[in-house]
This record gives sequence, C-alpha cells and structure tokens, in this order.
Amino acid sequence: MLLKSCHLSLAGLLVGAFSVSAAPAWKEAESVLKSRCYDCHNEKKMKGDVDLQQFAADPQIAKQFEVWIKVKDTVESGDMPPPKAHQMSDQEHGALLGWVNAELDHLAQSQSGDPGPVTMRRLTNAEYDNTVRDLTGHSYGLAQEFQTDGGGGEGFTNTGDVLFMSPAAIDKYFNAARKLADNATIMPGTGIVFHPNRIGLRGAEQLKAQAQQGLYVWYQQKAAPHLPKDDEPLREADYMLACWKHKQSQIPLDQLAKDMKLSIHFLNNWWNLVNSTEPKSRYLDLTRVAWRELPADEKSAHDRILAIEADLHSWNIPKRPGSGVQRQQQDSDGIRPYSVQAPVKDKPQVHFCVGDAGDGNKGDIALVTYIEVSIGKKKENYFHWLNKSLDEKRKLAAANPPPPNLDAIKARIAELEKFRTVYGKHPQGRQIEPSVIGLAAPTVLTVPMPEGAHGLKIEAVRVQDIGNTNGSGHR
Ligand code: HEC
Repeated sequence: MLLKSCHLSLAGLLVGAFSVSAAPAWKEAESVLKSRCYDCHNEKKMKGDVDLQQFAADPQIAKQFEVWIKVKDTVESGDMPPPKAHQMSDQEHGALLGWVNAELDHLAQSQSGDPGPVTMRRLTNAEYDNTVRDLTGHSYGLAQEFQTDGGGGEGFTNTGDVLFMSPAAIDKYFNAARKLADNATIMPGTGIVFHPNRIGLRGAEQLKAQAQQGLYVWYQQKAAPHLPKDDEPLREADYMLACWKHKQSQIPLDQLAKDMKLSIHFLNNWWNLVNSTEPKSRYLDLTRVAWRELPADEKSAHDRILAIEADLHSWNIPKRPGSGVQRQQQDSDGIRPYSVQAPVKDKPQVHFCVGDAGDGNKGDIALVTYIEVSIGKKKENYFHWLNKSLDEKRKLAAANPPPPNLDAIKARIAELEKFRTVYGKHPQGRQIEPSVIGLAAPTVLTVPMPEGAHGLKIEAVRVQDIGNTNGSGHR
C-alpha cells in the first residue's frame, strides 16, 4: 500500500516534469507494450510464462519487480520482441526502457538500506564454542553434542542457507545451556562466575553426600528393629561385665551373650571398643581405660563397672550445662597438648603453675607428658637427665675419700629425689606412664633446673575431671 502510493505520487511528479526531463510515463510505456508485446504475453497466450497484459492498469512495479527486471533485460539485450516479430521503433524502445529503468531505479533507491529477505542464521558449532569461551573464560566443548554443520557447495560451514535448525537441535541448545549453568555461581559481590568444573547442587560432591546419606538411611532402617528403643536401657554395665568375664575366663563372647541375654553384635562392638586405643579420645577413654584397669576380683570389678556406668550416664544429662555432645567435643579438644617455653638462664628452679579450666569444674587434671631442657647446644629429655644426674651424684657422694663439697651434693640429691617422686603419679591414683607427671589443678610444680640450663619446654595435656572418682588416665 505504501509502495503503491509512492509510485503514484512519483508518476504524478514525472508527468508534471515530462516536458523538461523526457522521463517516459507509464501510459506511454504501456502503449508500447500493448502494440509490441501483449500479442504473445497475455492471459491466454503466456509465452515464457509471462503475462504482461495483466499490468495494463497497474504495473505493480514493487510487487512484480522480478518480471520488470526480465522485461528490461530482454529488451535491452534485443531478445524481445523476438526477431521474427514486429520490431520496436527507437522511440518505442526508448519509451519502454526509459520507463522501466526509471521505475526500477526509483524502487531500488526507495528500498536502499533494506537488506531484502534475510536468511535465519545460527552460530556454527565452532562459533558457538568460541563464543561460550569468550563469554565465560573456559572451553567447555559443549558443541560436541550438536549435530555437525553441513557445508554449502562453496565449502564454508557458515553459509546461512545451510545452517539448518531442527527441534532436536533446539533441545541440544537447551541442554548445553543447562550444562553451562551448572558451572556457574552467583555470589554477592562477584556476580556470575564460571568455573571449570560443575558446582552446585548437581556437583560430584553433592552426589556423593547424597549417596552417603541414602546408604546411612538404608542401614538405619535395616538396623532399627535390632536397636534398643529410646526408653530401653542400654545395659552398659552388663556389656562391660561380659567383656570383663571374657577377658578373665576366656568364655567365648557368644556364650556370654546367650547366658546374659545380650546382643552378640553389641557385645562384639563393646569388646572392640574397650580394647581399642584408637581413635585417641578422652571421652572414650573414660570408659575403656577404666575398663582396662578393672580388678581381677569379680565383686570389686562389678562395683567399679557400676560406677563407670553411672559416670557414662552422668555425661548426657540435658539439665546439666556442658554435658553431652558439646562437653564431649571440648573434652576431645583437650587431648591436644599445651606447650610452654621459657628462658631459664641462671635460674635454679622453675615454677610451673597449673590453673583449672575456668569452667567452674574444680579438680581439673593436667598431665605433664614431656619436659625438655636446653643445655648448651643440646636439648635433653628432662626425665632422662634427672635419672642420669641422680646416679652420678649418688656415686660422687659415695666416693672414698668423700668429695670436699659433700654437703652441697647431698642437698642437691635430696632436691632431685624429691622431684623424682612426683613422676608416674596420678592425683586420683590412676595408672600413668612413669615418665608422666599427673597434677590436680590448681597447683604449682617446682622444677629444679640442671646446671647451665638456659631453656625449658613443658608439654602438658589438660584432662578435665568429670566425676569424683573416675577421672581418666591418659595414655
Ligand atoms: C511473437 C511472440 C512474442 C512477442 C511479440 C514478444 N515475445 Fe516475449 N517471449 C516470447 C517467447 C516465445 C518467449 C519464450 C522464450 C524462451 O523461453 O526462450 C518470450 C519470453 C519473454 C520473456 C521471459 C524471458 C525469460 O527470461 O523468462 C519476457 C520478459 C518477454 N518475453 C518480454 C517481452 C516483451 C517486453 C515484449 C514486447 C516488447 C515481448 N516479449 C514480445 C514471444 C514473444
């Protein structure tokens, strides 16, 4: 519609300008067609499939420009009218060609900037991968999943006409986009960041965790019927007693389980627990070390077992702050040794102060596991030095004739002997290594220094005492 009105106004203009410019009008051109062409190009006689007469009223130059280009070409080349037909005069020739050229030029100008029909283009596979790489900084090779690009006859894969699109290809584009999104994180501050590996909910780590969770639930469901109910007693004392009997009398565990109506699986677990030293855990040691130190006499062993059980139960009283899991955690933290270092040059003694943990639980216990002294360039185990030094000094004192400074030597021996006695003792009478010192906080340990010592390092483990009688020995 727009094009048509354009044409009409243009025609009007040309008519007005005719006398000046000689640009021929449609009327003139049409009369040439009528006399020279319609005979062979009408509705009935459509030579070369061309009906020119249909345009008599309106040449429809914009819509039918292809026909008019053919007219121009055939007339210009002299192909039309055919040689045997009546030829056009120069004036007719000029009128027809002049009109058709002017119209086509005008049409071309009015359409300039319009690229005409545009081929739907998509990226080639290589272009797709390169684009993703440029946008994300990583080469994901997502186009591997796409169908290969067909080449046009020219040998290029990026010819729009052969870059086909299909529903299956659209699906693949969606899949590629999802895969790409799996590699991205959106964080405050950083925005969207792409990573070389998949992350997020569908990452490998999450799948693993999910699988583990699934296994856990599966085992829990299988085990549930065999486990004691919430209100059922766990019979810790009975299991500990059965383990003790097995140790003392070699009665097989399954026999004991039968006799005492215990679960053989639990009993096996208990047996492994009380005998294991790993993992190092202050919490487990409260039970397993105490169990290992049970007396051989059944009556007293049983009494001790009841005390251990009572202790175990006292650990999980919800009303008691600090009991339960949190306390267990703090406690297992306690197995990390504390290390203290100090210069001790020219000091005959060093005082090592042990305070309680400050958590309101009196009677914390510290185990001094290692003392090291620096003498000259040597670092020496204090315990070894102490024993060696006592031997030497005793020999010196016993020598005949006695050394001139015998009194001083004797005083030193007394001092060292006194310190020697604190080794291997636990404030609650537990069994500990002979080279370890057990201390009940708060207290002060006075350590006699070797002659010429200039450095001291003390390693200690804080052990919280949770009951009146059942502090744990730490090994
Ligand atoms: C005597 C009959 C005759 C006359 C008169 C005649 N033509 Fe044709 N015209 C033909 C025939 C026959 C063909 C088909 C030729 C072919 O297919 O090779 C044809 C084909 C054409 C075609 C199509 C060419 C193509 O490439 O498809 C055009 C355009 C055309 N003529 C224009 C004209 C014009 C304009 C005139 C008048 C100036 C004219 N003809 C006069 C017989 C005629």
